Amino acid sequence: MEYIGEWMLHDMEEVGSTNDEVKKLSENIIGEKVIISAQRQINGRGRRGRTWIGLDGNLFFSQGLECDLNAIGALVFISTLSLWRTIQDLNPLLDVKLKWPNDVLVNDKKVSGMLLEKGEGKYLIIGIGVNIKISPNLVNMIYPCTSLHEEGVEVDRLDFLRSYIDNFNSYYGIWQNDGFEPIKQEWLTHAKGLNEAIVVHLDNEDTEGVFTGVDEQGALLLNTRTGIKKIYAGDVFYPQRKQIVNE
Ligand code: BTN
Repeated sequence: MEYIGEWMLHDMEEVGSTNDEVKKLSENIIGEKVIISAQRQINGRGRRGRTWIGLDGNLFFSQGLECDLNAIGALVFISTLSLWRTIQDLNPLLDVKLKWPNDVLVNDKKVSGMLLEKGEGKYLIIGIGVNIKISPNLVNMIYPCTSLHEEGVEVDRLDFLRSYIDNFNSYYGIWQNDGFEPIKQEWLTHAKGLNEAIVVHLDNEDTEGVFTGVDEQGALLLNTRTGIKKIYAGDVFYPQRKQIVNE
């Protein structure tokens, strides 16, 4: 066990899901900020009922902290921005983008995902997977994936986690002092597809429109043929830009 500032970090050998470990822990603690990471995760969960494959050498961790339920939107943005900063600092020339709501892309491929869940009492669990060494190359992936190693970045998983926590603390401080607006503005600066046509897939239904921003809760604002729609959940896709060919 080690402390990263106020955060108590426990790196475990093998878990089912780090989110479940923090959920269990949250039944017996009050006020503490905790992180559980694991060298192996054998039953990892992804968003929308999907599985998160636990490939050796990658980073799996969950943060547990007490906060108001209406802060969930802000926390998603604080966490993904912290991941963005951590990766960009490893190589300032790398193309690192944020994909609504909570993915990080390197060279347009997913390198990190996040699953937010509720713990006991006021605990919120932020579960993050980062492909440090290897990416799952499955035919039925809904989005292309990569790893930091495959993009030429070498980093130890716990060093990555320590830098992430430093960045998380900074952005969390900004949010506490100045509110969501500066977080939102910085997030939008690094968002993929802003002011471009996107497709949002939810429950077998596709909604098309121009991604114009996010609201104060973090909902995606989509300018559709029938007006601005607020999107609270879904998978975003970026259609290929049509090429205009002069014949
Ligand atoms: C997604 O993109 O679908 C979210 C993936 C979240 C995976 C992480 S790995 C650590 C934590 N424990 C889990 O079971 N899931 C999250």
